[in-house]
Amino acid sequence: DKGNYRHFMAKEIHEQPEVVGRTLAHYVDLANGRVALPEALPFDFATLSRLSITACGTAYYAGLVAKYWFESLARLPVEIDVASETRYREPPLEANGLTLVISQSGETADTLASLRYAKAQGQHTLAVVNVPTSTIAREASAVAPTLAGPEIGVASTKAFSCQLTVLLCLAIAAGRARGTLDASQERRLVDALITVPGLMAEAVKQEGAIEGLAREIAKARDVLYLGRGTAYPMALEGALKLKEISYIHAEGYAAGELKHGPIALIDDAVPVIVIAPHDAIFEKTVSNMQEVAARGGRIVLIGDARGAEAAGLDTLATLMMPDLDPVVAPIVYAVPIQLLAYHAAVVLGKDVDQPRNLAKSVTVE
Ligand code: M6R
Repeated sequence: DKGNYRHFMAKEIHEQPEVVGRTLAHYVDLANGRVALPEALPFDFATLSRLSITACGTAYYAGLVAKYWFESLARLPVEIDVASETRYREPPLEANGLTLVISQSGETADTLASLRYAKAQGQHTLAVVNVPTSTIAREASAVAPTLAGPEIGVASTKAFSCQLTVLLCLAIAAGRARGTLDASQERRLVDALITVPGLMAEAVKQEGAIEGLAREIAKARDVLYLGRGTAYPMALEGALKLKEISYIHAEGYAAGELKHGPIALIDDAVPVIVIAPHDAIFEKTVSNMQEVAARGGRIVLIGDARGAEAAGLDTLATLMMPDLDPVVAPIVYAVPIQLLAYHAAVVLGKDVDQPRNLAKSVTVE
């Protein structure tokens, strides 16, 4: 049931404050300001040799964000690859390593094959899945559920933000176990996490501005997305979302890679969407924005008031996100990224919920 929405995707975007809140309630012990995983894990983060993450599409981008979190919060070495590569690379996996698979449907053929490979190699396995009765949920040795509820739109939205939420909780739990986070640091992170549903509701308020911007973006043939740190996978996710439902060609790049090639594309016909919360590396991204501006590129900044002021650049639009702890930025910034793709597709009259050539669940390779 779409309720009052035109498309499932719109409904699912708007549901995010609620389902992320529900997911958080499952993973956070509010009274004590700490993460409390719903299920004891059959391995110890403290002694893990390595974390190997594998998934496809949007779930893979959630994993890429999680790589930054596990490395910085838990100092855990992480490798990550798309499942279609992992399964045929047959990577050597260290003893006492954990393979983490991420899947909304829990039925994605390549992800399942990678999970089976990891199990056969004697790895610990953990699945972040949205469908609790799925094959991946059944076969993994442990499951961390996302409580997004059924996701109908082919473009993944609420499953993604719930995946990020669960992954951040897992990274915090890993940090505690490995002694890289003390109780007060954990409390600060949990405090940041519990503000997320409210911040997402704030982000949704930009929808009017995003709708206007989408009319401009819909005219473009190519769009570039840039970001650094955890905003880099968000740039990849933004580009995927736009291309899959609006059929506009889009590419996501690490902002620092701009001068290694993609800068050759920049002119006033290629909008450049810069995802840049005001974090520790914001200034670096400002230099990249200046490079774009100097070549006549039109910038859309998805950022915050402090960043917009510090950058002091003319933009085509600035989508103003609330002030937040940068650690949770990917979850909140998912909202404008999704809304922009959604409205661009609507402007172009595309079939938002069932884009051509795509299936909700890719059960064949
Ligand atoms: O069900 P899964 O999470 O395993 O699906 C993975 C991808 O097929 C999926 O995220 C796909 O990329 C979406 N259409 C992206 O919006």
